Amino acid sequence: MKERTASNVHEAFVGEAKAYQRLLMFAKKAEEEELPQIAHLFRAVAAAEGVHSRRHFALLESVADTQTNLERVFQSENAVNGVHYLRMLQEAEQDGEETAALVFSQARDVEAEHANLYKRALNDVIAQRSTEYYVCTIDRA
Ligand SMILES: [Fe+2]
Ligand SMILES: [Fe+2]
Repeated sequence: MKERTASNVHEAFVGEAKAYQRLLMFAKKAEEEELPQIAHLFRAVAAAEGVHSRRHFALLESVADTQTNLERVFQSENAVNGVHYLRMLQEAEQDGEETAALVFSQARDVEAEHANLYKRALNDVIAQRSTEYYVCTIDRA
């Protein structure tokens, strides 16, 4: 794919993925305000934006077999927690942005745990061991 189009596809993917998450948060708010039909609307449009984001994603990256996907996300979690979040955390601290620093720091710690989960799964793909997962549901800063 030509560089400009690839850049546009990436931009479109980020925009659609952002819209998807925004709309789900708006739906939650509408529910809190006892407006279930508006929540329903936000969720329906979010689902469509999710489809758009996945179509863009499919142009950017191929989805491989599960063993390869596990290896890939393991590497990715390590890079996110050891490099990217570390830098963002340091820069937020330098900027005196305490809330952003806290959110980066907590996300970084969880990414490390994601890497551990993937590593365990990689060692255990065939066994398909049943596991319970705990997900923090706090989605505000
Ligand atoms: Fe869209
Ligand atoms: Fe993660």
